[in-house]
Amino acid sequence: MLTQLLVLVILAISANAADHDMYHNCSRVDVCSQNRELERQERYQIILEGAVFSQGVASFRVQTTDGSENLGLNITAIEGNIFRVQIEETESSRYHIQDVLDGEPTVVNFDDVQLSLTSAEIFLGDKRAVVNVSPFSVEFYANDVLTLVIEGDRLTLENEELRHPFTVGVSFPQALHLYGLHEHADHLALRTTAPGGDDPYRIKTMDLTYFELFSTMAMYGAVPVLYGHGINATSGLFLHNAAEQWVEITNKDIGADAFFMVDSGALDIFIFLGPSTTDVVRQYTSLTGVAHLPPIWSLGYHQCRWGYADQQDVQTVIADLDTYDFPVDAIWLDIQHTQDMKFFTWNSENFSDPFDMLANLSSTHRYLVTLSDPHFKVEEGYFVYDEATANDYFIKNLDGTNYEDQCWPGTSSWMDYLNPAARDYYSSLYLYENWNGTTPTLGGIWNDMNEAAIFNEEIEKTFPYDVVHYGGVSNRDIHNMYGYLQTMATHKGLIDRDNGTLRPFILTRAHFSGSQRYAAFWTGDNTAEFGFVTISYSMCLNANLLGLVFCGNDVGGFFGDPSDELLQRFYQAGAWLPFFREHASQESERREPYLFSEEVQATIREAIKTRYAHLPVWYTLFYEHTRFGDPVIRPLFYHYPNDVELLEVDDQLLLGRNILVKAIGESEVTSVPIYFPGGEDEIWFSAQLDGTTFPGTGWTDIPVTIERIPVYYRLGSIIPTKQTSRPSTTDMRNDGYTLTVLLRNNDTAQGTVYNDDNLSFEYRDSQKYSYSDLFGTEEQVVISPIDESDNEEFLIVVDNIVVLTYNDDGTVVKNSYKHDVNGVPINQMKYEGKEPLVIILR
Ligand SMILES: *[C@@H]1O[C@H](CO)[C@@H](O)[C@H](O)[C@H]1NC(C)=O
Ligand SMILES: *[C@@H]1O[C@H](CO)[C@@H](O)[C@H](O)[C@H]1NC(C)=O
Ligand SMILES: *[C@@H]1O[C@H](CO)[C@@H](O)[C@H](O)[C@H]1NC(C)=O
Ligand SMILES: *[C@@H]1O[C@H](CO)[C@@H](O)[C@H](O)[C@H]1NC(C)=O
Ligand SMILES: *[C@@H]1O[C@H](CO)[C@@H](O)[C@H](O)[C@H]1NC(C)=O
Ligand SMILES: *[C@@H]1O[C@H](CO)[C@@H](O)[C@H](O)[C@H]1NC(C)=O
Ligand SMILES: *[C@@H]1O[C@H](CO)[C@@H](O)[C@H](O)[C@H]1NC(C)=O
Ligand SMILES: *[C@@H]1O[C@H](CO)[C@@H](O)[C@H](O)[C@H]1NC(C)=O
Ligand SMILES: *[C@@H]1O[C@H](CO)[C@@H](O)[C@H](O)[C@H]1NC(C)=O
Repeated sequence: MLTQLLVLVILAISANAADHDMYHNCSRVDVCSQNRELERQERYQIILEGAVFSQGVASFRVQTTDGSENLGLNITAIEGNIFRVQIEETESSRYHIQDVLDGEPTVVNFDDVQLSLTSAEIFLGDKRAVVNVSPFSVEFYANDVLTLVIEGDRLTLENEELRHPFTVGVSFPQALHLYGLHEHADHLALRTTAPGGDDPYRIKTMDLTYFELFSTMAMYGAVPVLYGHGINATSGLFLHNAAEQWVEITNKDIGADAFFMVDSGALDIFIFLGPSTTDVVRQYTSLTGVAHLPPIWSLGYHQCRWGYADQQDVQTVIADLDTYDFPVDAIWLDIQHTQDMKFFTWNSENFSDPFDMLANLSSTHRYLVTLSDPHFKVEEGYFVYDEATANDYFIKNLDGTNYEDQCWPGTSSWMDYLNPAARDYYSSLYLYENWNGTTPTLGGIWNDMNEAAIFNEEIEKTFPYDVVHYGGVSNRDIHNMYGYLQTMATHKGLIDRDNGTLRPFILTRAHFSGSQRYAAFWTGDNTAEFGFVTISYSMCLNANLLGLVFCGNDVGGFFGDPSDELLQRFYQAGAWLPFFREHASQESERREPYLFSEEVQATIREAIKTRYAHLPVWYTLFYEHTRFGDPVIRPLFYHYPNDVELLEVDDQLLLGRNILVKAIGESEVTSVPIYFPGGEDEIWFSAQLDGTTFPGTGWTDIPVTIERIPVYYRLGSIIPTKQTSRPSTTDMRNDGYTLTVLLRNNDTAQGTVYNDDNLSFEYRDSQKYSYSDLFGTEEQVVISPIDESDNEEFLIVVDNIVVLTYNDDGTVVKNSYKHDVNGVPINQMKYEGKEPLVIILR
């Protein structure tokens, strides 16, 4: 007994670290170990003679210094201050990825080209690319500020039969910090990695079990995008390539270097010349797309566990959440819902009546989300296995047989989503007629294990590179976009299933550049420890800068059992991330919020209800993301780019422009330091509306209790909320809005609010929505259309206006109005969506 206990204790301790023998470090991966200490030296020269400049494309010949090899360099001008740089052997069999960009980029003509003996200058508005002959480099200028350089002296390209590795150095002369290179459990601002110290940031989709904090190890997602943020210029790049990469970062006092070591594929880099961070983000999302609006219910609270055992469990959990007054919109089923781990089947014993289960959920306005992975049980008679085998839809070994290895169902094969026919087949499995026991109440799909994860430690628990995809493509060339391709097919499946009417909701673990077009993602299998509360902010902020706006973490921690305190902090922080789901491993204790003491319940209830009250803010920001490409949550530097003190703050976020939130990732704290940005005229009101305010003058210690985390509204803003507590988003449909107006004595406040039918694509396809500007003073509030709208059912009805006036002496006066100055109830005033509605308050 004692020995057993000891073994358990040891397992429990060692379990919380990633296995550094199983997951390879730089010294064990050729492309990193062979290149990391590559010397800077001139290996290539540009030949200006014969360069061609035509219709926005400049083509140069490039030669190795010994003249042994010919390459080409293309520089293409793309709409919106973007350049594209491609370097490739003239005789090349490099693989070029497809389907990642959101349509072909629009090429625009250069404004001017100037040639000298040593360089070619290409002008595009006030941006400029300069190709230097020797030493070879391509420099990029924004308004005459040199902001990004592709360095020739660490450029190498190798064109072998099976491998096509390359390296390239990029410097950001203006950068004070670099951001991006998702996905890592690290601080937002990338740190120096250097030989002898930490490994370079590794980018390879894999199931990093027990991921560690502050690590450069590869994780589930791969987004090879890097931004250099500086006071005088911000720029960025996107390496359009899905092979494994390692990126060494060297930060300097001013300026930073990145050295890309890439295992295969094409050297195809998009350069974003800003000049602001907002511009850089918009330039990137203009290429890889935005998320469509999520169905509103997916912005509510999600209850998940691996796994709810049977349909009775589902029924009971929802009933208990209702009894204990916890709003919830969706409940999730892990792999146990299937028969013998076979996707697109229901477990005949425990989920014998899925239609009834779905009908019951639907009657309470709740949705179901089920797991659907890319691996399929090898079993003759299982229709997916049979059909996919018959049609050659599985990934192959080199000898042409189906690749097989171990996963949840035992011996499995993996759908080859690179094959368009396999994608179509997989999409069709989601049709109601093909997946018996499903209805629109099965509102979402969870694509898990799609890095892909494989139960084989010899291969780092993911595909070996010699497995072969459609068209003879090696996994080496597309490894990082496999999960992306799965979500693309799932998305099409859900679109087709509902005849294109309903917005799909998909949660994916693996993700790539552009995944935002198809799916939300979460940070994967985290651990019930305090550090995992705050790391979720830095990871989701990073993702939001890279277009992946719909991000969340496992509230509570996937592995382990949180203390009461930790669970509350997880909920409080998670309620302010775009995707909000409680989730736990099968090994963890049950932790539905009603299982805790009344005090703990009260805190969690408040966190969830605060989330629901702010749904109009979330929904409006998601709309603005679809329209402009902006992040939903933002690091402080996004709106305060010139304040060098806050460039590393990553446990605080801005929800849009106006709400500031601080996560608490420490135990038993009685106060926390908060950075208030913006200078002394930027006033932050406590969201408790108790009249407490803070000027934006930097670090301040704020007393905290377990009841809530610090949240602030910005002076000058109008925050639209819905204050009536309801069991689900659907039940909030007929509630009016509360507008909270935060202004300075004698000044104005502004906001926006968006509404539509919450579920369909009519906002996109038939302009059925309303999008309004809110303008307020102490005397009146004006609602006016940003886009004219005659969609009466979506026009906003305001119940209550709360005006907080900040006086110069620091006092705050609060007034609340349900009637206008003439005693007319505000919620009876009709806003027509064409002319402004003026509500006179006093
Ligand atoms: C890399 O991993 C190997 C095998 O686990 C280990 O022996 C070696 O010390 C590691 N190297 C570094 C630099 O951490
Ligand atoms: C450059 O563009 C030309 C014309 O589109 C194309 O033929 C060539 O392959 C490109 N070269 C590189 C290096 O991308
Ligand atoms: C910004 O540019 C100004 C003027 O060129 C220079 O003095 C300053 O040092 C630069 N600041 C940073 C942070 O690069
Ligand atoms: C049904 O659920 C029970 C309890 O979780 C489990 O023991 C049993 O194996 C499940 N049945 C099937 C067919 O999976
Ligand atoms: C649906 O709800 C009814 C009434 O509560 C219950 O008897 C039935 O078992 C539920 N069905 C399922 C599949 O949960
Ligand atoms: C679908 O499932 C229901 C019950 O779950 C069953 O009665 C029906 O026969 C099934 N239909 C098909 C086509 O398999
Ligand atoms: C989709 O269209 C078909 C044919 O018009 C119709 O039978 C079906 O009910 C529609 N399904 C949905 C979910 O709208
Ligand atoms: C959409 O959902 C939100 C949140 O539940 C609600 O406030 C709004 O009234 C809904 N709009 C419509 C048209 O149902
Ligand atoms: C408010 O603004 C008006 C017009 O700008 C000015 O006349 C008045 O003095 C201001 N009042 C206060 C209290 O600042």
